[in-house]
Formats: sequence, C-alpha cells, structure tokens
Amino acid sequence: MFKRLTPFCMLFALPILHACQSGNAAEEAARQAFTSLIPRPVEASPGEGFFTLTDSTVISADKNVPQLERLGSYLSGLLQPSTGMAIPVKAEDGSGRHRIRLMLTSDSALGQEGYFLQIADSMITLQAHQPAGIFYGIQTLRQLLPPSIEKKERQPGPWLLAAGTIRDQPAFALRGSMLDVARHFFGVADIKRYIDLLAYYKMNTLHLHLSDDQGWRIEIKKWPRLTEYGGSTQVGGGKGGFYTQEQYKEIVQYAADRFITIIPEIDMPGHTNAALASYPELNCNPKDPNPKLYTGIEVGFSTFCTTNEKVYGFVEDVVQEIAAITPGPYFHMGGDESHVTPKEEYIQFVNRVQGIINKHGKQVIGWDEIATATLLPNSIAQYWSDSTNPKRAVQQGAKLILSPAKRAYMDMQYDSTTRLGLHWAGYIEVDDAYNWDPATLVDSVGTEHMLGIVAPLWTETILNMEDIEYMVFPRLPGYAEIGWSPANGRSWDEYKQRLGRHARQMQAMDINFYRSARVAWADK
Ligand code: ACM
Repeated sequence: MFKRLTPFCMLFALPILHACQSGNAAEEAARQAFTSLIPRPVEASPGEGFFTLTDSTVISADKNVPQLERLGSYLSGLLQPSTGMAIPVKAEDGSGRHRIRLMLTSDSALGQEGYFLQIADSMITLQAHQPAGIFYGIQTLRQLLPPSIEKKERQPGPWLLAAGTIRDQPAFALRGSMLDVARHFFGVADIKRYIDLLAYYKMNTLHLHLSDDQGWRIEIKKWPRLTEYGGSTQVGGGKGGFYTQEQYKEIVQYAADRFITIIPEIDMPGHTNAALASYPELNCNPKDPNPKLYTGIEVGFSTFCTTNEKVYGFVEDVVQEIAAITPGPYFHMGGDESHVTPKEEYIQFVNRVQGIINKHGKQVIGWDEIATATLLPNSIAQYWSDSTNPKRAVQQGAKLILSPAKRAYMDMQYDSTTRLGLHWAGYIEVDDAYNWDPATLVDSVGTEHMLGIVAPLWTETILNMEDIEYMVFPRLPGYAEIGWSPANGRSWDEYKQRLGRHARQMQAMDINFYRSARVAWADK
C-alpha cells in the first residue's frame, strides 16, 4: 500500500494516511475523467500531475472583453454550490497566481466554437478564438472535475483535474434538440433546465415546437384567441398553457447566455387545429365553422385554407411578431404531414410562406416535406422521414438538418417495456441512438450538405420534466457526440464505457435517466 503514496504522504504518513488514500483515489478518478469526456474531444493528451481548486484559486479574464468576464462569473457560479468557494474573477495580470485563465486567441483555426485547454498543476489556460469556445471549454472543465461538482449542496472535494491538453472543436455547426411544447405544455423553469442540459453537452440549438393541433403556445398580440382559447388545453384535456412574449424573450436570453439559439416553429398548413379552432375563418370548410379544440394524438387531419388571402395576412402577423423577438437567424414553418391539403395548394403555400419569412429577416426551416416545393436558396429541410426528400432539397441547393425518426426521435420507446413513448418509428435503445453516421444516413448525400443534427422529443405521452429526462437520457449525450466529435474511430463498445461512467454525473445533476441493460452503470 505504501508504494502508492506520494512523497508528501510518506512524510506525514501516519496521521493523514486516510486523507492520502482518498487523495490517490481522487487522482485515479481525475485521470479517468480525462478519458471519459462526452462528447469525445478531437485531441486529448494526458500530462503529469494535477490542478487542484482551492480557496486561493482565482479565475482571470481579460477585462477588456466583457464576454470573458461574464464567462468567468458563469464558471465561478457553477463551481460555488458544491465547492463552497466563491472563486473570484480577476483581471489577467500575468502574475504567478494559481489560476484558471480565460483568454481569446488569434488562432482562427479553432473556429467559432473550438477551444484549447492546457491543464498544469499551477495553472489552467483555456483559450478560444470566440467566446463560445470558452463556454465549451468550461463544459469540459466541469466533466474533468469530480462528478460531485454538479451537486447543489456543499461537498468535501478534493477538487482535482488531471493535467493535460485538449484541442477540440465540433464536427457540425448545428447541434441540438427539439422540444414539443404543444402536445403537453412545459413552463419556463423546465425549459431553462432543458437548456442547461443541452449546454452541458455542447449543444447550441433548441427548436421549440410552439403550435400543433392540440395547442398554440406563444402569445400573438394581433390574434389573442390563439393563446386565450387555442392554448387552453393539451393532450388528455389538461389545462395547457402558453408563453407570453416576455416569457419567450426570457427563454431566448437564457439560451443566448449559454450560446444556444432558439428556433421557433409554427407548424403549418397542417397541424393547425388549435389555430383553426381559435379563428374559424382560417378554415376552408364551411360545414365546420366552429372546429373544436382537440386533445387526442392523431395527426394529419387539419389544414389552413391555403387559397384564402386571410390566411396569408395571419401568417404574416405571426411571423412578424415572433421574428421581432427572435434574434436567431431561423424561423421554422413546419410543413409536415399536411395530408388534407391538396398537393398543388401545399406547394403554393410553402413557396409563398418562405417569402414572408425571408421578408422578416429569417431563414426558413421546414420538415423534409417542404422539399417537394420550390425551396429558396437559403431554406433548410429537416429530414425526419421520407428519404427521397433530402435529395430533393440538396438538388435545390438547400442544406439539411438531420432528425431521422428511426434513430433520433427521443419519444420512441427504448423497448416494448418502456412506460412512456410510442414506437411507430421503432424501438430506439441507447446503442441504436448512437450507432449511426450522418455521412452514410442518406444515399449520395454527403455531410457537406448537412448543417447538423437535432434530436426531437414529441410529447404526446410526456407529462412533466421527469418524463422528459427519462426519454432524453441517456440518448441525448450520444446525439451530442454525433454532432460534435469526429466520426472517425467512433465505436459503441468504447462509448458505452464512457457512458457507464457518466452515470455519476447524471446522478449528481439529478437527471432521471433510463438504466439501459446494455450499459454497465458505474454508480451501482
Ligand atoms: C414529424 O414527426 N411529423 C415531423
């Protein structure tokens, strides 16, 4: 046993033997953390020694870059609850202090989101070309620390990070998740927790599915009945809900502070029963001037009257109000499963609505069916189902977002015993969710046509945050890795070891995750 002790421990061996042993265990754990990161970094070289957070540690940032100072405070705030230390953020002064340095570098090869992290026993240096890279480097630091760093109450430590260097940047520019807040509504606090979880895995996009047959979830000032009436229920008949524009702005800002872009989706011309019930004049069918609110889960029965000019005035108002409070570049127009819209009318509708969205300064995203229309050069098709549509989109010069239902729909059950979820696209166990490569997903469509990947969670059967977490975890970390890490060398057998160890972090974050039998969970 003694040969494992450090010289320091040998000197004081007897009185502090216990502390030295746990020190050794802590060193072992820190070394393991260095090779357990999710998503896996591009290059990571372990070094010698350890950096330990202590009450003399400071974070230093260039005070001339306000973003760096803010990121320093964000890091300090993350570390405070579990360490009990209020690590100060100081101006960088080149001193020999024991510190975590945050610096912007002119190394443009790191791109918008890459970072370079050097950990030595006296200092951590985190460099990036842009602030987002510092943010992702901070997420890496969180995973290099003991998992108890994520706890909300004070923990004993010690707070070691293994020395080494990591140079890292994402494979895809867009990485994220879609949350359906229409089938069941989730309030601002849930959305913020979801954003924090995405950020932890270096995801940068939250697509909010804000309207569907069962509910309209965003205040539109010119059309107040959309939320007063159309937002008043949800699947199963519960009370529903909606975001005021102020609450939506709060979500957008919370996301932006974490380098996450919100993509608002208003699904049309199908999936519009909540809007049609609120404003019957948007409906073509004179036999049904008063459509009822809908609380079931069938799809494909509703459509706007795409030949009625009033509908385009409505769409213009909705796009204008949402675009005005959405700083991100995108507006998602849905476009899926419009089974009762005549095909020619569907095409004309998509063509015209793209123009409205562009006029309000936003780039169009639509589900893959929009590729059957004439896409504008900067429109984006989100591939979920019909494998002929990605080719149609790419032939028109459009880019793709990948959300293949058979691999990336997190509302699909893990297996036939899963209490929640559906299985119309199949069962998606954790390995099925991980074991696919964007490069070979669609015949003859290469990754140069792909912006990235978005894993959707539809919420027909999902009632609360606990349900959300159970379906999302542990699949989401795998999607994050497909989006971020190089495909080269990817293997489920290797990943499942890291994922098994990652149980400790998920536990510390109080995530209600599915304990797949295909993974050996390290916290058991
Ligand atoms: C979809 O699942 N209808 C996009």
